[in-house]
Amino acid sequence: MVQLTDDLIEAFNAIRVIPFATAGIDGAPNVAPMAGKELVNRDTILVMDNFMQKTVANIRENPRAAIYLWGEGVKGCFQIHGDVTYVTEGEQFEAFRQKTLARMPKAPAKGMLVIKITDVYTCSAGPGAGDKIL
Ligand SMILES: Cc1cc2nc3c(=O)[nH]c(=O)nc-3n(C[C@H](O)[C@H](O)[C@H](O)COP(=O)(O)O)c2cc1C
Repeated sequence: MVQLTDDLIEAFNAIRVIPFATAGIDGAPNVAPMAGKELVNRDTILVMDNFMQKTVANIRENPRAAIYLWGEGVKGCFQIHGDVTYVTEGEQFEAFRQKTLARMPKAPAKGMLVIKITDVYTCSAGPGAGDKIL
C-alpha cells in the first residue's frame, strides 16, 4: 500500500483546489476542480460530493481517479492515482460532512469519494518526468 511521504503531505495540503480526473467506460476523460478534500492516514484522500455529475457517473462505471499537485507551496509536481469508492454513510463520512458544512453551511455534502492511493508519479519537467516514485 502506498504511503505518502511528509513532502507529499505538505504538497497536498498546500494546494487549495485539486484537478480531479476520471473516465467512464467509454474512455472519455473528465476533469473538475475540487476544494473539499482531505488526506487521511497517508494513503487515503477524501473528496466531498457537492455538485458532481460526470465525476460520480464515471466513478460508478470505472472506480479510478487521478489528480496532480502543482502550484504555490509545492516543491515539484506529483500525480496521484487511486481506486475510488463512493460513500454516503458512516463515521468518517459524517465527520467530513460536518467539516464541509462548517465551511459551507448550504453545501449538499451528499456523499464522498474515498480514494485509496495506488501510485504516485513525478510530473516535474525534465529528466525523470513521469517516473513512478511511490
Ligand atoms: C474552486 C472550485 C472548487 C470546487 N470544489 C468542489 C468540491 O469540493 N466538491 C464538489 O462536488 N464540487 C466542487 N466544485 C464544483 C465542481 O467542480 C463542478 O460541479 C463540476 O461541474 C463537477 O464536474 P462534473 O460535473 O464533471 O462531475 C468546485 C468548483 C470550483 C470552481
